[in-house]
This record gives sequence, structure tokens and C-alpha cells, in this order.
Amino acid sequence: MRLRNIPRAEGVLQAHPIVVKNAKLYKGKWNQIFGNMNPVHIEIGMGKGSFLLTMAEKNPEINYIGIERYSSVLLRAVEKYSQRHLLIHAPAEAGGVCLARDTQERPTTHVPAEAGGLCRKELSNIRFICMDAAEVEDVFAPGEIERVYLNFSDPWPKKRHARRRLTSREFFRRYDKILGEGGTVEFKTDNSELFRFSLGEAEEAGWTLTGYTWDLHADEQMNKGNVMTEYEEKFSGMGNSIHKLIATR
Ligand SMILES: C[S@@+](CC[C@H](N)C(=O)[O-])C[C@H]1O[C@@H](n2cnc3c(N)ncnc32)[C@H](O)[C@@H]1O
Repeated sequence: MRLRNIPRAEGVLQAHPIVVKNAKLYKGKWNQIFGNMNPVHIEIGMGKGSFLLTMAEKNPEINYIGIERYSSVLLRAVEKYSQRHLLIHAPAEAGGVCLARDTQERPTTHVPAEAGGLCRKELSNIRFICMDAAEVEDVFAPGEIERVYLNFSDPWPKKRHARRRLTSREFFRRYDKILGEGGTVEFKTDNSELFRFSLGEAEEAGWTLTGYTWDLHADEQMNKGNVMTEYEEKFSGMGNSIHKLIATR
């Protein structure tokens, strides 16, 4: 996904608290960023972020980090975060107390009358990083990550660019370094050639395929709890089958 360069993107990302700057400083310390010891899942190539935001909303006991290379794309994810998080209605019968909860599950925020009963709920279990995935080993310590999501990764169709594919054996070796025991990579795409390549690369890199399907949306078990990404909505809407693999170290 390439968007035109948006000059204000860098400034917005620098100022926004959800974007972690100097991410390499936190190698081995991501639990401090989140303030808990919950597992950390990352999405590489998150695009506009809808998948990860939904996952973070649904699973407060998991910490999520979205990685995206282009600031103009990450800007869209930050804007989406700001739109979604979240205007919550505090009904009169709740005495102006917002339904948002803090980490101890207490409703905390008092909504002044002039806010019209709306308050903003912050998501505490998600962060974004603007970086190239080739640097993951500099940002995460061995075993620090429990799951890597790769959704509709760029196909890099030319053979001489195969190493750049996020499911190449080179990338599987990088994931191997940052994942803990039993950690997984979950990959979805509608690109059959890239999928076939990825199945081969996972095995070549010594990973175990614990599941895969060529038609995710028709596979009841693999599709259970599936959260669609922006590209998944688009390509399945065009009638394309979605492929998915889960690989374990
Ligand atoms: C085709 S889009 C898919 C977006 C989203 N995951 C989805 O499914 O809707 C791929 C995204 O991965 C990002 N990307 C590709 N290579 C990357 C890399 N090496 N490091 C970080 N992001 C990368 C691209 O900039 C792009 O936003």
C-alpha cells in the first residue's frame, strides 16, 4: 500500500502517544510500556490498522503492536484510532459517569454536561511503530513476542526480490529470534502464488504448519473468530478466496 507522501504525517506521528518513538530503546522492556506482563502480539505491515484495533478492542488481556513502514499509511491508522477511541455514551442514569473502564475495571471518567454525555475511551493495549520489519530483532528481545500476524503482505512478484517477502525464509529466521516457545506466525493473503511460496518457506525454515486453508471463509474451524482486514474485505468482496496458514516454531 503506497499513499502519496503526506508532509504532516511525521509531525503527527511524533506527537501522538500511541506511536512509540525510538522503538529500539524498548527491546526487552515492552512490558514496561504496557504496564503489565500480558502477552504481546505484533502485526507487520498493518496498513490502516483496522484489524489490529479490532483485535485490541476484543482482547484487552493481550498487548498489540502494529508495525508499518510508511508514515503516510501509519497516519491513517493513528487517525482511525482517534476516531474510534471512542465516544462512549454516559447516560443520565449513570450520573454522568462514563462507561469506559480503567485497568482495574472501574468506571472512572466523569462526563461534564457540556460534553453531551460523550466521553473518549482510550485503548491501553495497543501501540504503533513506524519501521521496516527487517529490523524486528533490534526492537524485540528473544522470546518477547507470542504471535506475529502478517496480513496481505506485499507479494514482491520478481524472483530477485523474494527475500523481501515477509514470509521468506529470511523473515521466518527473524521471527524465530523474537518469538517465545510455541510462538506462531499467522499469515493471510488472496495471492495463491505467494501463499504456495510461503508454505514452502515455512517448512524450509524448519517451522511446523499447524493449520492451513486455501479458502478461509469456507473453513469453519480456521475462520472461527476471524477478524477481517481492509484488504480482506476488499478482495473477498471481489470474489477472491482467502488463504491462511498458521506456523509454529
Ligand atoms: C498490502 S498492504 C496490507 C495492509 C493490511 N495488513 C491489510 O491486510 O489490510 C501491506 C502493508 O505492509 C506494509 N509493509 C510492506 N513491507 C513492509 C516492511 N518490510 N515493514 C513494514 N511494513 C511493511 C506496506 O507499507 C503496506 O502498508
